[in-house]
Amino acid sequence: MHDLGSGSVLAQLEALVDGWDGSIERRYCHLANAAAFLYEQMADIIWLGFYLTFGSEGTLMLGPFQGKLACTDIQFGRGVCGKAAQEGKSVRVADVHTFVDHIACDSASNSELVVPLFDSNHQVVGVLDVDSSSFSRFSEDDQQLLEGAAKILSRALWT
Ligand code: SME
Repeated sequence: MHDLGSGSVLAQLEALVDGWDGSIERRYCHLANAAAFLYEQMADIIWLGFYLTFGSEGTLMLGPFQGKLACTDIQFGRGVCGKAAQEGKSVRVADVHTFVDHIACDSASNSELVVPLFDSNHQVVGVLDVDSSSFSRFSEDDQQLLEGAAKILSRALWT
C-alpha cells in the first residue's frame, strides 16, 4: 500500500475517469472506481467516499465509497461534510471528538479530511470524505493531494 504522495497517482486517477459520457449513471460508475482506487492508495484509512448534492435543498446524499456502511443524508452545515459543502472549503480535523457536530458514522474514526467538489459554475456538487482511526492522520500534503483529486473529478465528471 502506498500513500497518496505522487503525481502519478493523480495521473492514474485522471485516466480512470476519462471519457465521461455525461450520464449520471456513468458518473457514479467512475466515482465508484475512483473511491476504490484512492482507498487502495492511502495508508491508515478506514473509510473513503463521496457525498453528493441533490435537488436544491442543500442536502448531501451518500455516493460511492469504500469502508463500513455510513449515514445516507447530511444537511449542508451539519458535520464535517456539511461544513465543507456549505463553505466550499476543505475541512481537516485532527481529532473528530473535539469537532462540535461531528457525525459519527463509525465510532472507530478519530480524524477526518473532507474536500469539496465543484461544477463548472463553481457550485458545490459534493464532497470527498476520508476517515482514519489514527488521530492527526491527515497532513497539509494529504489535503493538497486530495484537493488535486477533487479537482480532477470535478473537471472530468461535472463539466
Ligand atoms: N463524519 C462525517 C460523516 C460521514 S462519515 O464519516 C462516513 C461528518 O461529520 O460529516
